[in-house]
Amino acid sequence: MLYAIIKGFQAGERKVDDKERCPYLIAMVVAHIQLLLGLGLYFMGENGLTALDSLFDAGASLLSSLGFFGIIHFVLMVTAITVITKAHSLAKKNATHRRVVHLMLLALLIILAAIPWPFYGYGRGFFPGT
Ligand code: HEM
Repeated sequence: MLYAIIKGFQAGERKVDDKERCPYLIAMVVAHIQLLLGLGLYFMGENGLTALDSLFDAGASLLSSLGFFGIIHFVLMVTAITVITKAHSLAKKNATHRRVVHLMLLALLIILAAIPWPFYGYGRGFFPGT
């Protein structure tokens, strides 16, 4: 995403031509792979749907591990991936780099907010298992 944003920022008001679409396409493909992995973890792992169940049972806060993985992480990440997909769709319709980069930046900010950083308290360590 950073590469796509920097390249797009440099191109500015120019319209995206077919050759320049590649970084946006790669960002979208990676985001969709992340979506598939996330959906797998959410519906088959112990911290997704199960967390949502326990969240309602325990009446825990949204700002707890249960609330974060059960709702916040899911909703924000799916929103970010939708925005990335919209950005790529604009690039395909030859919009200006500036418009595409604005959406990519918005998605990046959402992702950064929704990552379970260690300093969130209910987040994860930088090196899982240590
Ligand atoms: C850009 C997209 C995404 C990023 C960057 C991302 C990032 C992360 C990170 C860093 C973790 C913590 C891993 C660890 O150290 O244990 C995590 C966990 C998790 N993510 Fe995502 N995620 C994304 C999208 C999604 C989506 C779309 C879903 C659900 C549909 C999802 C569901 C989960 C679940 C359930 C966990 C907890 C896994 C477990 O410990 O069992 N993620 N994600």
